[in-house]
Amino acid sequence: VIDVLRASSSIVTALANGAREIVPASSVQQALKAARKTGKGKALLCGERQGLRVRGFDLGNSPLEFTAKAVKGKVLHMASTNGTKAIAATSAAIKTYIACFLNVDCIAQKLCSQRKGVSILCAGKEGLFSLEDFACAGMLVFRMECREPRICLNDAAHAAYSLYKEWCLDLRRLLETSGHGQYLREIGMGEDLIACAQTNRYTVVPVFQNGRIGKAR
Ligand code: MLT
Repeated sequence: VIDVLRASSSIVTALANGAREIVPASSVQQALKAARKTGKGKALLCGERQGLRVRGFDLGNSPLEFTAKAVKGKVLHMASTNGTKAIAATSAAIKTYIACFLNVDCIAQKLCSQRKGVSILCAGKEGLFSLEDFACAGMLVFRMECREPRICLNDAAHAAYSLYKEWCLDLRRLLETSGHGQYLREIGMGEDLIACAQTNRYTVVPVFQNGRIGKAR
């Protein structure tokens, strides 16, 4: 699952900074209920609505908030508008990996090593297409093809690859051009675009299994 702005980028950053695990929720209510079970002291409530921290939550959905100081050793109950919903919707999959520009190479490596068919799910925005997610899918396809030149791509994968090639020299501009990127800048979160445009900053492979996201071994 790819949600460059910003759920995937926040999840990768949180795990890189020592979060114990992340429990993606489809709604704010679901996150509150699950956090009560985890218990005070261990749980952090994170997430956004319209890009802004949910009232009463500990953290929003900016990767810049997921510092080691904030998340180390904690269980994060996360409810974002599209990203965590998309992840939760894949609970029937054998395994779901969470990808973004920050960790795209190690995800490509993981997927190629498994030698299985892969579906890439772009979270998008409220059911609509997102430029940044599709371009990141294209980068993932590109990196997979570099490792496995004989992989078989469908038309959507070819299209994603072409889009990525168009923007690969300036991912920051890609994020600034995208609809959600423009919205985040309008609400004062332009710094997040710089954070989310970095490629391969982390070697973390988040895997969603049994309702929780942890680091894949
Ligand atoms: C989402 O899940 O819709 C996003 O990550 C929204 C955001 O926080 O920018």
